[in-house]
Amino acid sequence: MRAVQVSELSGPEAVQVVDLPEPRAEHMLTPGEGVLVQVAAAGVSFPEVLQTRGLYQLKPDLPFVPGAEVAGTVIEAPAGSGLQLGQRVAAFTVLGGMAERAVAPAYLTFALPDELDFAEGASLILNYHTVYFALKLRGRLKGGERVLVHGAAGGVGTAALQVAKALGAQTIAVVSSDEKELIARQAGADEVLRADGPWREQALQLSGGGVDVVLDPVGGERFTDSLRSLRESGRAVVVGFTAGSIPEVKVNRLLLRNIEVVGAGWGAYVMGHPGRNRKIGEAIATMIAQGFVKPIVGARFPLDRAVEALKTIDERRALGKVVLDVAQAGR
Ligand SMILES: NC(=O)c1ccc[n+]([C@@H]2O[C@H](COP(=O)([O-])OP(=O)(O)OC[C@H]3O[C@@H](n4cnc5c(N)ncnc54)[C@H](OP(=O)(O)O)[C@@H]3O)[C@@H](O)[C@H]2O)c1
Repeated sequence: MRAVQVSELSGPEAVQVVDLPEPRAEHMLTPGEGVLVQVAAAGVSFPEVLQTRGLYQLKPDLPFVPGAEVAGTVIEAPAGSGLQLGQRVAAFTVLGGMAERAVAPAYLTFALPDELDFAEGASLILNYHTVYFALKLRGRLKGGERVLVHGAAGGVGTAALQVAKALGAQTIAVVSSDEKELIARQAGADEVLRADGPWREQALQLSGGGVDVVLDPVGGERFTDSLRSLRESGRAVVVGFTAGSIPEVKVNRLLLRNIEVVGAGWGAYVMGHPGRNRKIGEAIATMIAQGFVKPIVGARFPLDRAVEALKTIDERRALGKVVLDVAQAGR
């Protein structure tokens, strides 16, 4: 089968498409029984760019096939998994997704609702499950509250805007360009501010003294201003560091206005916990049925142009989710 392969850690340019043996369930990195999926679309995300340089927390032996998530149809499923042959699914593979066939643990494989096509399905698990976990379970976001989302036109950002709306919150998006402002508005942002402008002062004004939650996949120098834009008892939820540097917090800021900094590591929370996955999957399925969740797919590339897909993210050009069409485009 054809698959994307990382054989050296020198960045997206060195990634190749090669012929490899078929994957098997026992090759899964996570425990649990495996589902073999005929991949229609594979999601591409920031962590995969980091993996091409050996800079992500997960450091597989070389060579490896990247690809954390796919959408496609079931070829083989363990008895008792509730999955049928030919069923449309979205699956979290951890690795190995950028290939014609991939295996995922049964507990990380979800029925793909009719409302979503395969490209949207390949955009679902990593970002939407993460932001549900980050906003609702870690940030305790409630209806009527206000959330500020950094990197709001990216994969995590657009997902956060939609899930926040589903939770009944008001949203303020922070983005770096006009093009990204349009995407944030498409994802349902109530207000959009510019990362290179006075966003902190504007957020304080728009929220009447501070937002309840900041969702931060960006990190870097703006983190202190994120804390300053929280209201009393506000929560800053740390999701990632696309700006490249990990911020440090002077903890006196936390007690001055009784604010919190909380981490949200979705993988660590759900790996090996089918019950937790199922609950988050059910919540997202409800949000899809209610019309709140519909992933925004910005760029699509065929499998053999995986380098371009990774570079789109690496060069900060991604709008919504980047997807590889592995089989012919369709539902
Ligand atoms: N904690 C978890 O469980 C979890 C799960 C999934 C992903 N993540 C992390 O979440 C982060 C976002 O992932 P993603 O797939 O949403 O990425 P993405 O689609 O590329 O979006 C990231 C956004 O970060 C902003 N950004 C600011 N400075 C940047 C820079 N120097 N280079 C690139 N982007 C920059 C960009 O927005 P502007 O240009 O508008 O500023 C961009 O839209 C990553 O760090 C990823 O590892 C964490």
